Amino acid sequence: MKDQPELLILYATQTGNAQDAAERLGREAELRGCVVRLLSMDEYDASSLPREDAVIFVVSTTGQGETPDSMRGFWRFLLQRSLNQSWLKGVPYAVFGLGDSSYQKYNFVAKKLDKRLSDLGARAILERGLGDDQHHSGYEAALDPWMLSLWSSLSDTNPMFFPKGIDFMFSSDTLIDQSSIQVAYHNVGKMNSQLTSDLKNMEMQIERARLMSPGKFSHGKKKPDCLLNMIKNQRLSKVGSGKDVRHFEFEFVSSVIEYEVGDVLEVLPSQNPAAVNDFIQRCNLDPESFITISPRNRRKQDPIPTATQMVPIKLKTFIELTMDIASASPRRYFFEVMSYYATAPHEKERLQYFASPEGRDDLYQYNQKERRSVLEVLEDFPSVKMPFDWLVQLVPPLKSRSFSISSSPLAHPNQVHLTVNVVSWTTPYKRNRLGLCSSWLAGLDPEQCVRIPVWFHKGSLPAPSPSLPLILVGPGTGCAPFRGFVEERSMENPSMSTAPVLFFFGCRNEDNDFLYRDFWLSHSKHHGVLSEEKGGGFYIAFSRDQPRKVYVQHKMLEQSQKIWNMLKDGAAVYVAGSSTKMPADVWSTFEEIISKETRVPRESAVRWLRALEKAGKYHVEAWS
Ligand code: 2AM
Repeated sequence: MKDQPELLILYATQTGNAQDAAERLGREAELRGCVVRLLSMDEYDASSLPREDAVIFVVSTTGQGETPDSMRGFWRFLLQRSLNQSWLKGVPYAVFGLGDSSYQKYNFVAKKLDKRLSDLGARAILERGLGDDQHHSGYEAALDPWMLSLWSSLSDTNPMFFPKGIDFMFSSDTLIDQSSIQVAYHNVGKMNSQLTSDLKNMEMQIERARLMSPGKFSHGKKKPDCLLNMIKNQRLSKVGSGKDVRHFEFEFVSSVIEYEVGDVLEVLPSQNPAAVNDFIQRCNLDPESFITISPRNRRKQDPIPTATQMVPIKLKTFIELTMDIASASPRRYFFEVMSYYATAPHEKERLQYFASPEGRDDLYQYNQKERRSVLEVLEDFPSVKMPFDWLVQLVPPLKSRSFSISSSPLAHPNQVHLTVNVVSWTTPYKRNRLGLCSSWLAGLDPEQCVRIPVWFHKGSLPAPSPSLPLILVGPGTGCAPFRGFVEERSMENPSMSTAPVLFFFGCRNEDNDFLYRDFWLSHSKHHGVLSEEKGGGFYIAFSRDQPRKVYVQHKMLEQSQKIWNMLKDGAAVYVAGSSTKMPADVWSTFEEIISKETRVPRESAVRWLRALEKAGKYHVEAWS
């Protein structure tokens, strides 16, 4: 018999936040003397759940209420009909969710998991906690108080979780003296010529670096699908208009990938070389050394490293390809580990304060509000000598960015186009900040022939068949996928593509950011894809050309009858653009239109729309 029960913490993460939260819970529990096992849901055999002493679930909700990829199998298992109300009888559990309250299905995954567990007989020891991205200190604002209640609920369940009591704490230093990964340095002299020639192969280096990185990449594929070369970088919005929207054209270099309109292109950006050098200097690293990286204590369930994973990579290349040193607002644990390695007493004290619950608001002011980068934080505390293994573990992974493809492969064989808003903003202390990927792309000169690593994916907009009538709503860069749709229809056999296409576009001013103006106007005339002759139309909302805001929703209401007639005739709806409020506003405009045109109460219109969505005819691609 086990003398001390074990606390199982299962997490499902998409961007890494749920893993951060789970790791923090694990550390705090261990500090209090609890025995912890921490696993990603896809590493855990769900059939063992009934035998657990207690389980804490930390799950995030992504996009439009979807489960993270790593939770799919686990969730499918839990939904099996053969599992009944007594399957998890009495198993103590608690759920903490991470979500964003600006989305309609806020923390949907945590809520449905909580309900299913309780339906299967498990016993909630604490009301579920819900972290909100919209809160100024992020999910931690909810996690901190929830965690405190969790220790007492667990102790009430079985005091042996904390044999020395919940107030007992080891020094956190004992948990910090070793990172969870180790870096091995290799002698270059012994390397064979094959390896030296591999160093010139960019795709191979990316695969190697990503295989070794402990970072949480959004998908499993490490090797890029191909490399692209930029052939056009054109500004679409007027200079001085406050917006910088670009049209980029790329051609395939290493191989040609087949894609469809509506697909998504994931781009791995390059980092600023000066920042990489500063980071290397600040951390006293040897950029030319060769390294391999592996978990320090390989657990039974950890995969055996592949041969490729054991091949050394240059330290500088590893940093360039996987460590986002310019990323803003390192997490709180970063400050905790920094405090351990600070030698100047005043720096140590300040870092310890930042890492404590009392320092949360000040940390927010210093870190998140100013969006200080990892490098800036390290430079602010010069006495901190953090070992490279800790840096590898804690510096956020360099993330690829996804963009809706704005071209049709039929219209542009061997090419792929993007329409990108170059992100920039000013912090409260007037520092200028730029989005890493968009500003890198905007700064590229097609003459330079820079190779760009990319992956192709299916997004949430399936390519429509030519005979399907379409209602498209895409303000701002939301027009990107629809440029591809319209190009594709214009290339198809005219006898096939007679189905009407209605497009609602929105921008601030006619003179400043009317993206692809000539393209839309030419396709809305002379029997074009968007022409009235074909039953379609092109409607624009210039939001700031008059005192009152005019949005796509207003233009949709003006075309209420036309929209309803098309919906009745089997049209599919596609909505794309900024996620803030637009998709929800457009949905409720459809409700209003259906209710008005069919003279039914709003609830019936909602049901009609939900049925449309269920039939796979209402698609949304939203980004922030
Ligand atoms: P605004 O910036 O003037 O508020 C592309 O970003 C266009 O979408 C802009 O004209 C923007 O208007 C508009 N927009 C902003 N919020 C919106 C919403 N909730 N619904 C529809 N359009 C919106």
